Amino acid sequence: MNEETHVHEHPPEGASSDWTIPQNWDAYSDEEHRVWDTLFERQAKLLPGRASEAYLRGLDVLKLSKPGIPDFEELSERLMKLTGWQVVAVPGLVPDDVFFDHMANRRFVAGNFIRRADQLDYLQEPDVFHDVFGHVPMLADPRFADYLEAYGRGGLRALELGALKQLARLYWYTVEFGLIEEEEGLRIYGSGIVSSYSESQFALEDPSPNRIRFDLKRVMRTDYRIDDFQQNYFVIPSFDELLRVTVESDFAPLYAEILDQPDIAVAELVPGDDIITNGTQAYAKAKAAQMPETA
Ligand code: PHE
Ligand code: FE
Repeated sequence: MNEETHVHEHPPEGASSDWTIPQNWDAYSDEEHRVWDTLFERQAKLLPGRASEAYLRGLDVLKLSKPGIPDFEELSERLMKLTGWQVVAVPGLVPDDVFFDHMANRRFVAGNFIRRADQLDYLQEPDVFHDVFGHVPMLADPRFADYLEAYGRGGLRALELGALKQLARLYWYTVEFGLIEEEEGLRIYGSGIVSSYSESQFALEDPSPNRIRFDLKRVMRTDYRIDDFQQNYFVIPSFDELLRVTVESDFAPLYAEILDQPDIAVAELVPGDDIITNGTQAYAKAKAAQMPETA
């Protein structure tokens, strides 16, 4: 959902009409598999005690610790047995309706390329590490599996209702950057956090960002940043509850209501917020002071 990233209008050469391409697993070099292993080891050490139970269970049952970039066919076979999802390769970002349609049919679209060894921490487009390590473990959880399928259907509907931006924020603040309140404390489950060495620490431990209890309408009104750590994280009480408030409510009247209200800026707090951490925003302020202009 990065505006700078080029999105094709038609499936490129070699892609099927549904935009999928072969993962071409045999074509990965040893160096590319090593990049995966390096990233994997670094995150695997960091995540116990930080990632949600559901995420850690997914990592385990899908055997993602097996060395090298996972083979999507093997991964899909395991996932299919657990929750009926598959992982399919696509050439970078695909049009929204294609993305939603795959999701509504329990196919998770993943990039097949991997970042370079000198870019372990920075990347513009989601690669196979973000997509598979970040997203796929959660798909082994039956509640999250249902949530994402429903989200896909909701996406097709949001396109018709002109509310894509609002629904995309829900994805951002749950699927990509969500936190959950577990018995032992706050945990991360969003793919953008669990796949990032620095943000998996920042999201939980840094005093800068706001941590606010999840509220559906609030989230769908909130802007987000794609170029740095988040300034707001939203905390769900459980996956059952996330499923309940999203799947069981009709979004059409909610969209109508919030489309009339102003957007909420990234670090802003509003009346009604159930705040866990009132962030200092020290990180964002220091960053802004360093930069001649916001990126
Ligand atoms: N219930 C939503 C609608 O009526 C669809 C949806 C489900 C959206 C789950 C997101 C997550 O549009
Ligand atoms: Fe992602």
